Amino acid sequence: MAVITTIEDLRVLAQQRVPRMFYDYADSGSWTESTYRANSSDFAGMKFRQRVAVNMENRTLRTTMAGQSTIMPVAIAPTGLTGMQHADGEILAARAAEKFGIPFTLSTMSICSIEDVAANTSAPFWFQMYMMKDRDFIGRLIDRAKAVRCSALVLTLDLQILGQRHKDLKNGLSAPPKLTLANIANMMTKPRWCLGMLGTKRHGFGNVVGHATAVSDMSSLASWTAQQFDPALSWDDVEWVKQRWGGKLIIKGIMDPEDARLAVRSGADALIVSNHGGRQLDGALSSIAALPAIVDAVGGQIEIHLDSGIRSGQDVIKALALGAHGVYIGRAFLYGLGAMGEAGVTKCLEIIRTELDLTMAFCGLTDIRDVSRDILIPGTF
Ligand code: GLV
Repeated sequence: MAVITTIEDLRVLAQQRVPRMFYDYADSGSWTESTYRANSSDFAGMKFRQRVAVNMENRTLRTTMAGQSTIMPVAIAPTGLTGMQHADGEILAARAAEKFGIPFTLSTMSICSIEDVAANTSAPFWFQMYMMKDRDFIGRLIDRAKAVRCSALVLTLDLQILGQRHKDLKNGLSAPPKLTLANIANMMTKPRWCLGMLGTKRHGFGNVVGHATAVSDMSSLASWTAQQFDPALSWDDVEWVKQRWGGKLIIKGIMDPEDARLAVRSGADALIVSNHGGRQLDGALSSIAALPAIVDAVGGQIEIHLDSGIRSGQDVIKALALGAHGVYIGRAFLYGLGAMGEAGVTKCLEIIRTELDLTMAFCGLTDIRDVSRDILIPGTF
């Protein structure tokens, strides 16, 4: 590929370079993938009001998310198995985010552990957590995040059971991958990836292997979730986490105004409108379609963030126009990582920043904090 100018370019390159099992894990939704597709296509229907002869000098995208200063209103989303898209993936992505000046969120289901990412970066990062049955383990996980000074805890509420993803089942997803003939044959077509993996020891779920018990197959996300994630999770548990953590709390996975009100009542600092990238309840609304009712219900009381479907800076500004305070990118950065490691994540962030900056200017604004519904054509959202 000659010149990379879009997230789609990065996706194509990642598909060539990452073993199918892990590329498919990232680039898929549950069941028919209708929500996965709607997350992006619902952005496409929204149209901008172009303004002219407005002074476009001295533009700024700087803002804050959950109290943290950021160069643009975009954070890295927590994504599972990131260190399988590229060797040491979480460390590389965290470094790219740090150098760029945006928040990085580490998933519980990361390959590199909390301590490992902290030891290899200097900016504080955010830690995403799932509620598990083993409260001892959860308590220790929170303490570990505190010990390395994570600056926010992102508590995911929408994955107590796993949505069915056909490709993962068919590919026999695991980390590390099982050395079947089919996997070996596929990995042999990805020499860069193999070389990277041969050069690192980070091949399993770093936060859980050696720290958790009562899971028969530690390499399988499906068996881990089925055996350990707590399907009885309630708002009382959220309260318990909040007390135990004591710092900034962000609730992830809110799609309904009623749940948004409960999130506010829980005392969280922010909520994320998210359908988990279309990976959980297929047939749910896209995140961008769910956003306005949630903004109407709780806007102003709590910071509202959004993920799922963001593939460009134009998507970012559309989410802001409908009331999101900031957004997260998952697949967009994973494609960059799979394509070119740390340089690919940086490339992804540059692409998004440029698209966001130019679109803001074309809409007649110079400060990202001034974005409102005014930049959109009525009737298109
Ligand atoms: C985990 O968060 C997943 O969506 O696979």
